[in-house]
Amino acid sequence: MQEVKKDIFLKSPLKWAGGKAKLMDKIEEVYSKDFFWYGEKYTYVELFGGGGSSWLFVLQYYHPMRMIVNDINPNVINFWRCVQSDPNALCEVMDSIISNYLSFDWDGRKEFFLNLRKIFNANKDYLTRTNIDIRMAAMFLFLNKTCFNGLWRTNSKGEFNTPFGKPTNLNRDPNIYNKDNILMLSELIKKVEFVCRDYKDVIGDDVAGDVLVYMDPPYRGTWTDYSKESFGEQEQIELAHYMKELKDKGFFVIQSNSKCDDEFFEEYYKDFEIKTLDGVQRNIRPTAERKVQEILIYTK
Ligand SMILES: C[S@@+](CC[C@H](N)C(=O)[O-])C[C@H]1O[C@@H](n2cnc3c(N)ncnc32)[C@H](O)[C@@H]1O
Repeated sequence: MQEVKKDIFLKSPLKWAGGKAKLMDKIEEVYSKDFFWYGEKYTYVELFGGGGSSWLFVLQYYHPMRMIVNDINPNVINFWRCVQSDPNALCEVMDSIISNYLSFDWDGRKEFFLNLRKIFNANKDYLTRTNIDIRMAAMFLFLNKTCFNGLWRTNSKGEFNTPFGKPTNLNRDPNIYNKDNILMLSELIKKVEFVCRDYKDVIGDDVAGDVLVYMDPPYRGTWTDYSKESFGEQEQIELAHYMKELKDKGFFVIQSNSKCDDEFFEEYYKDFEIKTLDGVQRNIRPTAERKVQEILIYTK
């Protein structure tokens, strides 16, 4: 069994739009001041878990008693479940895909990518909300790391259609994945409960006591193409109502979103604190030039 090395911080192998790695110290200020005096006997729920930068941070630094991670995208949840349950099998398939890929020149690699994307799309309906498929997880990781900017984009049929991302520095070794990282992550996430549902269908009666819910939804007024279901204005309003419901249950709730020119957040989140993270801006999507200003909305 691979031992978790406590002195190193394990990062997500995925590239994911909206990843919070660089923001965690800002978010942590809110956690630690307002919530973490509860101690470690609490449940942490992340409703839009994505690439994992935020919940991996919490898992490694704050050790909740129970952690539930949800995302509506079955590929991302299948990937995490495979890392958790059979990392060696996942690495075996990855190694075989990568050795094939590297045997080609750049034109051949592009063609290999496009063929694999075709196979991945042809098999996409094998994934349900609950099953585990190692080959799909390996193809997902490979495509995520070799497509243009790690962008997850699908067409109206739900097929992944991001183009090949030829690296700018062709002499550097393509760093597609790291086996030790996957094996150590597997140990780290052993007890995480992964769920693949709409965010409103995740928290049931079994979630009670001291609960911190973190939500990092697709940002308002920006890019909403994480899945074939989009996340528009109506969804942002529903999310505001849902966040109030969770607060009324006595949960500590935090949401990340982006500062807007109108009064939307002031109007819909009257019962919450809203904090602008000064100096924290990020691209709304990997290719965008416009940056958004981050805000945190949290229980007063
Ligand atoms: C901003 S990203 C989260 C990024 C994540 N915090 C990270 O560090 O990688 C938003 C995520 O919400 C997911 N999502 C979109 N609509 C959803 C819904 N209705 N319910 C649950 N997840 C949803 C997307 O698949 C995407 O992974």
